[in-house]
Amino acid sequence: MTGMGWRGAALAALMGLGAVVTAGGALARDDDPMPKNANAATKAAYARHEHFEELGKTFKALNEEMKKDAPDKAAVAADTKIIASLGAALPTWFPKGSGVEARPKSLAKPDVWSDAAGFGAAAAKLKDETAKLNQAALSGDLAAVKAQLRPTGGACKGCHDKYRQEKS
Ligand code: HEC
Repeated sequence: MTGMGWRGAALAALMGLGAVVTAGGALARDDDPMPKNANAATKAAYARHEHFEELGKTFKALNEEMKKDAPDKAAVAADTKIIASLGAALPTWFPKGSGVEARPKSLAKPDVWSDAAGFGAAAAKLKDETAKLNQAALSGDLAAVKAQLRPTGGACKGCHDKYRQEKS
């Protein structure tokens, strides 16, 4: 092995490490770090934020993919699978006490808990629409996926309008 080759390998290893550190750093949220000794409700509030960012990012990626002339069916199906699984899990992200009292930057309105029935219905709607979205992708029917984007986005908006505060 030449000196150059060795350095090249070491550099590649370092760059790999850098990527891991960067990804970890993005998750650590330098602007709003989770306090040390966080209790279960606080941990839930921070985890929820991560889940919503993933949901938002994936739904956006799906919408972008679907705008292409020939969307990549595998990429579409990968996105809808994530969206459906997050959509089904959403009700578990809101344990009592995980609102602004747990994370001051939380945008969850107190109504999430005081109007649990209405919130549950909005969450059920999302589960339903995201399951249909995933089903359409699984069947390889891109026209059906396209037609299901709007009802899915509507389920997001329907809940946000009532249960999420505007960012100040
Ligand atoms: C049943 C209610 C509900 C549904 C359905 C819902 N959300 Fe949300 N979403 C919320 C609440 C409440 C928050 C605020 C959570 C917090 O800050 O603690 C939120 C926060 C978010 C955030 C983070 C905003 C930020 O800057 O902190 C994104 C992104 C997001 N939602 C995207 C989506 C997308 C995309 C969908 C649909 C695919 C969706 N949500 C469906 C209730 C919902």
